[in-house]
Amino acid sequence: MEKTFIMLKPDAVQRGLVGEIIARFEKKGFKLAGMKFIQVDRALAEAHYAEHRGKGFFEPTVAYIMSSPVVAMVWQGKNAVALARQLMGSTKPVEASPGSIRGMYGMDVSRNIIHGSDSVTSAEREIALYFKPEELIDYPKVGDEWLSE
Ligand code: RTP
Ligand code: MG
Repeated sequence: MEKTFIMLKPDAVQRGLVGEIIARFEKKGFKLAGMKFIQVDRALAEAHYAEHRGKGFFEPTVAYIMSSPVVAMVWQGKNAVALARQLMGSTKPVEASPGSIRGMYGMDVSRNIIHGSDSVTSAEREIALYFKPEELIDYPKVGDEWLSE
């Protein structure tokens, strides 16, 4: 089953949006494989955004995800990476679909509430950054058979 890495960024925690966003992932049909509440340090923040090193927004974005605790999660399901990106909405809240998470709750690209892996390869890299293999749990869940063939 495909897995994706999702982070509820500091603004989601500070604005009390954690429960609401998790509920949307649950209701969509994603299955939780791992979750932790953590303070990201500089080494982890820089590793997370390594692909953006050298860009103007790199340092502010690193500072942003270190600015308060975050909720790091792994959600799984068929096409989990693409479905999560759709649920999140475009990077810039002004371009995000009205019903998406960023479309509903975000005002600015520099405080866009949520991170989600942009490919299966990115998901594998990001999951390994935040989770040990034994911290991910695979289990049967009531309703699994009603979500896909
Ligand atoms: P993310 O990695 O956080 O899920 O976001 P994304 O794939 O939709 O966007 P990406 O291009 O990977 O950018 C990573 C994060 O950097 C911040 N950013 N700021 N000020 C800017 O122009 C700018 N561009 C990007 C955002 O927090 C974005 O989510
Ligand atoms: Mg990205």
